[in-house]
Amino acid sequence: MSVLSLKNISYSYGATPVLDNLSYDFEAGHMYCIVGKSGAGKTTLLSILSGLAAPKQGSIFYKEQDIKSIDKYKFRSKYIGVIFQSFNLITKFTAMENVMLSMDIAGVKNSRKKETAINLLMNVGLTEEEARRRVLKLSGGQQQRVAIARALSYNPDIILADEPTGNLDGDTQREIMKIFRELAEQGKCVILVSHSPEVAEMCDICYELKKTTRRTKKKGRS
Ligand SMILES: Nc1ncnc2c1ncn2[C@@H]1O[C@H](COP(=O)(O)OP(=O)(O)OP(=O)(O)O)[C@@H](O)[C@H]1O
Ligand SMILES: [Mg+2]
Repeated sequence: MSVLSLKNISYSYGATPVLDNLSYDFEAGHMYCIVGKSGAGKTTLLSILSGLAAPKQGSIFYKEQDIKSIDKYKFRSKYIGVIFQSFNLITKFTAMENVMLSMDIAGVKNSRKKETAINLLMNVGLTEEEARRRVLKLSGGQQQRVAIARALSYNPDIILADEPTGNLDGDTQREIMKIFRELAEQGKCVILVSHSPEVAEMCDICYELKKTTRRTKKKGRS
């Protein structure tokens, strides 16, 4: 069963079409990559997948249930963890506080939130000292890890990430991709959006957005 399905999705900004009749399936335990040139509509598609934008046509199903019939707030704060292109972290807060805030917003009941937040951050490679440091004073790669830990803070089924390795060096990129691979192995559905052929290579299934958005390509598992 697909954890997330798009059926005949189209989207336009005013009169400008961006996505045209897309139908994609996403299953648990797999890593997907949505690739395409700059401006092809990757971030737009990610907004639709995460329920932040509604498609002009077509439907999205979460475990076979149309997301129109699921409370939007619940969908976004419980089922899907989103890692934005620009992280959207609160930079004056510490890494740990960012993760705890996300748990609070999702209504996570946990009497040991601090410890849980630190553990989540250490699981993605931060030290305890870094977890207690303000985000502003962390490197780009470390901020990316905080954004991943925050997305995991309420244990969603689906992880969506926009250009998760965009500004990172090769080694850090591979470390971050290893974290996503482990999440897929734990049964999460991981959906990445990327320009990078290396990132696409490391995923199981690749959907390519064309600027004209007339055709899509599906690559099987290698
Ligand atoms: N709010 C908006 N209003 C109007 N047009 C928009 C808006 N957001 C994006 N667009 C346009 O829609 C198209 C797709 O944008 P989108 O951000 O989804 O592309 P992308 O594939 O994520 O690009 P990049 O790789 O550069 O991040 C672009 O032509 C962009 O200019
Ligand atoms: Mg984008």
